Amino acid sequence: MICTSKEIIDRIKLAINKADESSDVYLHEPSFVGTNAYEYIKDCLDSGWVSSSGEWVSRFENLISEFTGSNYAIAVSNGTDALRLALHIIGVKKGNEVMIPPLSFVATANAVSHLGATPHFVDIESDSLGMCPLALEKRLNQVGLIKEGELFNKITGNKISAVLPVHIFGLPSKIEEIRLICSKWKLPLIEDAAEALGSFIKTKAESIHCGCLGDIGTLSFNGNKIITTGGGGALLTNNKEIAESAKHLSTTAKKKHPWNFYHDKVGWNDRLPNINAALGVSQIEKIKDKLISKRNLHKRYLKYFHDLQEIEIIKEYNQNESNYWLVTMRINVNNPHILREEILKESHESKIYLRPCWNLLNDLPMYVEAPCGDLKEARNQSERLINLPSSPQLNYF
Ligand SMILES: Cc1ncc(COP(=O)(O)O)c(C=O)c1O
Repeated sequence: MICTSKEIIDRIKLAINKADESSDVYLHEPSFVGTNAYEYIKDCLDSGWVSSSGEWVSRFENLISEFTGSNYAIAVSNGTDALRLALHIIGVKKGNEVMIPPLSFVATANAVSHLGATPHFVDIESDSLGMCPLALEKRLNQVGLIKEGELFNKITGNKISAVLPVHIFGLPSKIEEIRLICSKWKLPLIEDAAEALGSFIKTKAESIHCGCLGDIGTLSFNGNKIITTGGGGALLTNNKEIAESAKHLSTTAKKKHPWNFYHDKVGWNDRLPNINAALGVSQIEKIKDKLISKRNLHKRYLKYFHDLQEIEIIKEYNQNESNYWLVTMRINVNNPHILREEILKESHESKIYLRPCWNLLNDLPMYVEAPCGDLKEARNQSERLINLPSSPQLNYF
């Protein structure tokens, strides 16, 4: 017999230890308890340096580099701008196409559109919920045409200028395989690691932080992420030239000079303000504790759901390490949307604000006409997935 939505909600309550009906439980809430946030922000306020220059920004960037192992980290105003800047730097231009998965937050596609380019959707696979390397290869074989050393879509006539996989819900995507395909087709690789700070990919030799295998990786520090700066993001790269370009273009392309305002390119005002970086330093100092708590919370979900055949709590695969940013349940029954709607309704009545995963990007009005391969797996998975409350503090009891 199929389990009921009530039974599922009761198990979620046990996993998050929710006894009382009055409090609201959201998917991912920020926490500043036990950090130096107030002290650092006061220091920043007292210094008067609250905007786009100041020592907290470089402190924050150094800590991100140290934690991720990336040679360079450039802090910017949010994850969407980080993506747009990364795509611009590797050469995405108006009229180009960028290969992305359809299962992601809308920012992934929007960043492509902000440059006048078009997303080209490639199917996902079920282990990582990220871009499927086989589907990418198949699609490039179907539509790719190399002319004078550049890759074009022979159906639309547009240049294909980058591949942009996403590490969804913190689960590492199959980047090593995707990178091989990118090398074969000479395509730059940008990793959208907005949700994956603290997630690592196990390669033959070592564990590499998500966002550090491609040409550029991007992070988000929005309030719902594993660490927050209020709003913020970063670019990760091992390439000095890319790092310098990112810093320059994100600071209005102003040449360094004590009084002369000379700008040599059309840049952006994308730098992370110092006051946000102060908050960021206080947060990244505690990231290891948060990762442990999130892993323990994931274990609790596994414990309370292990005997329900119809419900699977998604786990990391192939010795990769997920930050378990959003713990995700997969409903393994026929016609999953019926049970999914019941679970969502029941959970909201209990003030536990579960969410289905996003609508597929290719179903949104601005992207319905975008080029795409066969998106069967994305459609299949998106009907089955529900994100569960995942704040690390849910494990502090
Ligand atoms: C996969 C993904 N990409 C990009 C972003 C954009 O980040 P931000 O909200 O900081 O602009 C987000 C999240 O917010 C995201 O989840």
